[in-house]
Amino acid sequence: MNAGGDLKQDTACLTVRREEPRRFAAALFERWQSLTRHVAWVTAFPLLTSCSGIQSALDPAGPEASDVARLFYVMLIGGGLIWAAVVLVLFYAARKAREPHSERVAGRVILWCGAIGPVIVLTMLLSYAVWLIPNLRPWSSAIAEGVRKIEVTGEQFWWRVRYLDEEGEVLLERANEIKMPVGQRVVFLVKSPDVIHSFWVPSLGGKMDMIPGRTNHIMMEASKPGIYRGVCAEFCGPSHALMAFFVEALEPSDFEAWLAGSGTAETDGASEGHALFLRHGCGACHAIDGTEAQGRIGPNLTAFGARGSVGAGTMPNTPENVARFIRHPSEIKPGSRMPSFGMLPDGDAERIATYLAGLK
Ligand code: CUA
Repeated sequence: MNAGGDLKQDTACLTVRREEPRRFAAALFERWQSLTRHVAWVTAFPLLTSCSGIQSALDPAGPEASDVARLFYVMLIGGGLIWAAVVLVLFYAARKAREPHSERVAGRVILWCGAIGPVIVLTMLLSYAVWLIPNLRPWSSAIAEGVRKIEVTGEQFWWRVRYLDEEGEVLLERANEIKMPVGQRVVFLVKSPDVIHSFWVPSLGGKMDMIPGRTNHIMMEASKPGIYRGVCAEFCGPSHALMAFFVEALEPSDFEAWLAGSGTAETDGASEGHALFLRHGCGACHAIDGTEAQGRIGPNLTAFGARGSVGAGTMPNTPENVARFIRHPSEIKPGSRMPSFGMLPDGDAERIATYLAGLK
């Protein structure tokens, strides 16, 4: 009896052992399925929500951005096809090919699938990408041809924007917002005085590094009026993520009218806020056109009230936020070069903020 019982147990053990790898494989497969399902959800959600809007390379608003989006789709389809081919080969090897291949066949598979195939596919994708480059970069003749030029300097951590005339002289300086005409190619001359930033308006074109000691160029065109959001795309310091800007594309006549009228922005020079602005020394760093404030270190504040944000896209432009920024800029924007004005007498920061909000 005993011997019979042992035998039964042993057979059961053997069956379990034989079943183990299969069970293990099934469990592994189930795990893998659930993992891929989670990964698909986690990646699909941001992908689906980031495909449109004012800051999306997949919602292009100009020819340069359309080229970038098309390149993305070509690469995505190319990559997808290669992935599908690899999975098919893997499936074939694991499930269908029961007999090992001869050495000659195996050698051919390696030659075609491992060397010749990838070289052909990668050459095609690379050629397409290289073919697009002249569209994305301004060639020197375009710079000479009287295309509109806007100089953008990456500061720590904001954007100095200068509108240039045909000769390259500065017509106007503003900060953190760029206006450009619709339907015209604009050359952006991008610079930096100290650290490397990267100028990027996803809806309008590719990225361009802003490198100290040199001027880089990038061409962009907006094909429809609207507001687009740009960001710094190169880590540049503690407030790298708090360094955004807005591009407003205007009809050409509106743009020209704005450019012509903007040098004489209206300010309430007699207000108490304006007097406080000057008395507390704000004018040493900030300029407001048409007033005594002519500082060049910080952002130009002409027509500040018309801007959508304070601190280069950090907070909505409300008098409360501006007053907070005046008192403790580095609390809101770490690494900001603006000194704190927490010692201002009660109400002064609010009065200055109200004055700035009125500058339109
Ligand atoms: Cu400027 Cu990152």
